[in-house]
Amino acid sequence: MQNSKIKEELDFKDLLKNPIRLFGYTYFYVFVILLGLGIYYVHNLTDMTKNKVMPTIISTTIENDLPMMQPSNIPPVDISTISVPTPELLEKGKILYKNNCASCHGDEGKGDGAAGSVMNPKPKNFSENTGWINGRKISELYKTLDEGILKSGMPSYNYLPVEDRFSLIHYVRTFAQDFPKDSDFDLQLLNSTYKLAEGKTTSAQIPVKVAERIVLEENKTRLKESAQLLELLNKMSTTTGNEVFERVCVDKNLTAGLLSSNLFKQKNKSEIFQIIVSSPLNYGFSPKFILLNSNDWDALYNYLNKLTEQKNG
Ligand code: HEC
Repeated sequence: MQNSKIKEELDFKDLLKNPIRLFGYTYFYVFVILLGLGIYYVHNLTDMTKNKVMPTIISTTIENDLPMMQPSNIPPVDISTISVPTPELLEKGKILYKNNCASCHGDEGKGDGAAGSVMNPKPKNFSENTGWINGRKISELYKTLDEGILKSGMPSYNYLPVEDRFSLIHYVRTFAQDFPKDSDFDLQLLNSTYKLAEGKTTSAQIPVKVAERIVLEENKTRLKESAQLLELLNKMSTTTGNEVFERVCVDKNLTAGLLSSNLFKQKNKSEIFQIIVSSPLNYGFSPKFILLNSNDWDALYNYLNKLTEQKNG
């Protein structure tokens, strides 16, 4: 018993001294482990190549183009009437409140709307009379709507028409009985700060993408026109106008460009003369153009004009 133990120990030491023999004894286990790893690897191949962190997809398209806007004419408001809550204003305010504010401030103005539940600070509870940043007077509420309180997530509603803002303010002020009154001075200051008595007109606006398309279309038709005119310029002959033209024109391409432009369509004979004289080369004419007498110019103008009519006809 004792002997065999010692023998085992000796064998073990012997093994350590002979790595090749050691491998002989262990290679089976190494093989099994490698096989196991191999099977595991193949099994999970699809998952292993996946990114742990989802790649961020950066959009390369412009999503916030200008909105299509009708020209608007926001009428001036009279502060002394609009600052009084009428049933009409309150009714309008109620609808606007539901659509714009209730998601955060709650249907009853308690600051408990679903969208506001994760906000910090919480959307204002309108029935509380403490902790207001701008305040509860009409003039102060107007400031809040105009500027928002951006650092805490209260949006600005400065795109709403003035009357809509007052409707909202009057409606918000129904959530408690103790909203403070504005003095005449407060209202006058509000009036002058936001120029309420002036009203505002804004012009129509179209998205940049649409504008680009329109310009492209316009240019396409203009290029086509220009090509047609060039063809005609090359063809026309044996009129006095044509003789003058051949004398002073050095680049028919440029002249065709001028004829297809709005400039030529909208200005009268002497205005066009002035325009060409100011820089003849730009319009395809030699500097000799400046020396044309009025008869020559008449003939040339009639010729060019007839040409553009021909193209149209
Ligand atoms: C996205 C959520 C959200 C929406 C939508 C929202 N609010 Fe707020 N509002 C807030 C938060 C948050 C505060 C609190 C700001 C603070 O205390 O810093 C707040 C505060 C206010 C205050 C208090 C300002 C003060 O002086 O302390 C008023 C008034 C107000 N909102 C009115 C409105 C009205 C009216 C609408 C709709 C036209 C609206 N809010 C829509 C989140 C919102």
